[in-house]
Amino acid sequence: MTPPERHLQAARPRSDLWAKWLGTAAAAFLLLQLIPYGRAHTNPPVQTQTTWDSPQTEQLFARACADCHSNQTRWPWYSNVAPVSWLVQKHVDEGRSKFNVNVPGFGPEAGEAAEAVREGEMPEKTYLPLHPEARLTPEETQALVSGLQRTFGQEGGSETGTGGSDGD
Ligand code: HEC
Repeated sequence: MTPPERHLQAARPRSDLWAKWLGTAAAAFLLLQLIPYGRAHTNPPVQTQTTWDSPQTEQLFARACADCHSNQTRWPWYSNVAPVSWLVQKHVDEGRSKFNVNVPGFGPEAGEAAEAVREGEMPEKTYLPLHPEARLTPEETQALVSGLQRTFGQEGGSETGTGGSDGD
C-alpha cells in the first residue's frame, strides 16, 4: 500500500501482464475440460420412424432441426470443448424433451413444430452461425411450415384437446 510499490506495479511492462493473464485464462480453460457434463453425447435408440408427408420436409428437418429434435444428433468436434459443450448438451436435452421425431408420440410439443418455425423461434438462433445449412430461404421456411403441419398436426391443435375453436 505504500506509494512506491504502486508506482512499481504501474511501471511493469504490459506484455508481462498479458502473459500472466493468458496463463491464468489457459489454466481456467483446461480446468473446465475436467467437468464431465456435456460429454456423454448419447444418441438413444431410434424408437420410431416418422412418416413424413414428403421427402422435402424430411430433408429440411434434417438440415435445420434434427440435431436437437431427434435421436440422430451429429455431434460436432466443438461439442467436446467446454463451455460450448454445455450449451450443446443443454439444447439437445431440452429440445428432445419437447419434440423428438424418434420417440412414440413425438414429444409433448410436436403439434407446435409448424408454429415454432413460422414465428421464427426455431431453429435456435445460436445454432445458425456454425450451421449455415440450417438457414432456410423464405420459400424453404414456408415449405417446412406446411410440411410440419401435415406431418405433426395443425398449430396449437393439441392445446384445447377438443379442437374446433377457430379464432379467439
Ligand atoms: C440447436 C438446437 C435446436 C435446433 C437446431 C432446433 N431446436 Fe427446437 N428447441 C430447442 C430447444 C433448446 C427448445 C426448448 C427451449 C425453447 O423452447 O426455446 C426447443 C423447443 C422446440 C419446440 C417446442 C415448442 C417451443 O417453441 O418451445 C418445438 C416444437 C421445436 N423446438 C421445433 C423445432 C423445429 C421445427 C426446428 C427446425 C426448424 C428446431 N426446433 C430446431 C433446440 C433446437
